[in-house]
Amino acid sequence: MDSFEYNKMIGALLGTIFVVFTIALLSDAIFSSPKPEKEGFAIKAEETAAATAAKPAAPVEIGPLLAKADAKKGEQIFHRCEACHDGTKGGPNKVGPNLWGVVGRPIASHPGFSYSAGMKKFSDESKKHWTYQLISEFITQPRKEVPGTAMGFAGLDDAQERADVISFLRTLSDNPEPLPSPEAAKKAAAPADAKAPADGKAPAAGSDQGKAPATAPAAGNDNGQAPAQGTAPKAGAQTK
Ligand code: HEC
Repeated sequence: MDSFEYNKMIGALLGTIFVVFTIALLSDAIFSSPKPEKEGFAIKAEETAAATAAKPAAPVEIGPLLAKADAKKGEQIFHRCEACHDGTKGGPNKVGPNLWGVVGRPIASHPGFSYSAGMKKFSDESKKHWTYQLISEFITQPRKEVPGTAMGFAGLDDAQERADVISFLRTLSDNPEPLPSPEAAKKAAAPADAKAPADGKAPAAGSDQGKAPATAPAAGNDNGQAPAQGTAPKAGAQTK
């Protein structure tokens, strides 16, 4: 073999290497994809966008609307709830808990009803109570207000309908919670929404006195005790 043959062989070898490298480089360039910041697929649900878009609108203050609510209309609306809720005193739990006395009642506290984990969490171990405002926010979009709730109800969009049905719920009690007074309701238009029920407290305490004269004055302090039945809810309304 002379040197010319060697040259040809080396040339062929180098040529092959050149071609292989070129292809490798080219395919890298063609098929390369930037590494994602996060592994996995980015799914941007439209819902999130909608939710954040809806967020800035603070929840509607139900106090002022309650002042002009119509419990009769509310009773009609309540028929929609009756598919799952009984509203009579001592009535049964259905798909949902009995709603007698629900206004002011500790959340997720009705005996014999097994609440969802979501609702129990929301109740903060039944330390929170169903104020008018909380009920309103809950029934606007139950699943949004209380994630994981078992209440399969789409919600009432119309704030006045909510006020009407809440003013009817209020009547499901031996001792209905006072309505926010119109002045309080006006004041509540300011951020302090806990104000309205708080202002309404005085008459409530008065009516409780009838029930438990001896304990009523002190009841505010030791709510959570037995006589708290009537008084604890108001405390809830205050602390929210
Ligand atoms: C499809 C059945 C269904 C309908 C309709 C329904 N609810 Fe409920 N509701 C439930 C269930 C189930 C729960 C218990 C939720 C949980 O444990 O997460 C509940 C819970 C509640 C609670 C909390 C009670 C408590 O003891 O803490 C309130 C208040 C309430 N519903 C009000 C209403 C109102 C007002 C309506 C009508 C506008 C309504 N619901 C319609 C099923 C329903």
